[in-house]
Amino acid sequence: MQVKRIAILFSGNGSNFEALVCALHQKIFIESKNVESKENLFLIGGITKDFIEISEKNAKEHKEAFKVEVVLALSNKAEAYGLERAKRLGILAEVIESGGKSREEFDKEIVELLRGKDLDLCVLAGFMRILTPVFTTQIKALNIHPSILPLFKGANGILDSYNAPMCVGGVSVHFVSEELDSGEIVAQGVIKKDFNESLESYAEKIHALEYYLYPKAVLQVLA
Ligand code: GRF
Repeated sequence: MQVKRIAILFSGNGSNFEALVCALHQKIFIESKNVESKENLFLIGGITKDFIEISEKNAKEHKEAFKVEVVLALSNKAEAYGLERAKRLGILAEVIESGGKSREEFDKEIVELLRGKDLDLCVLAGFMRILTPVFTTQIKALNIHPSILPLFKGANGILDSYNAPMCVGGVSVHFVSEELDSGEIVAQGVIKKDFNESLESYAEKIHALEYYLYPKAVLQVLA
């Protein structure tokens, strides 16, 4: 059976990292014939393939089955809470501090580590770095951003879309390029803003959408 190796990079809380591990790690998938057509909570674009999890025993009958392994959690901050999640989840974690290094120096270090892991895909989940061509030309990576790109790029995607005179908000999964939040979009999800909704309530819905969409987008790219 094929094994798809991914690394997940974060800088802080790591809730998307945890959601990805819970949805994908050491699980075996095959493509399901029917893309889910009913979405109760979210409107989703870009997901054209759906996957179902199957058991190790059933995998023998499916040549196309693949298992996902999260082989590394990588943080650029030693104090990132995501590292505690990694420990709890039994995922190998490493820290490469970005402080005091040029962008290129830091990227070279992480590229060296990542290349040694024989990855199929690198997954950024709250990794608060602008990456240089040292990284983007060598590593195939996805990122998730909490807005409907190309609107509201940058570190305040949730706040900016909450404050915008719009009735919907959303999240985007895109390939990583050297321009911030600008690579090719893979999938997007949309939620509606409720009238008089608090920022906290809006942010909670955005995060729920992230945990729903990101594993689906990762599987689609891996397959
Ligand atoms: C998420 O909202 C993600 O879209 C953005 O950074 C946040 C990370 O949150 N890129 P967490 O660390 O996964 O909890």
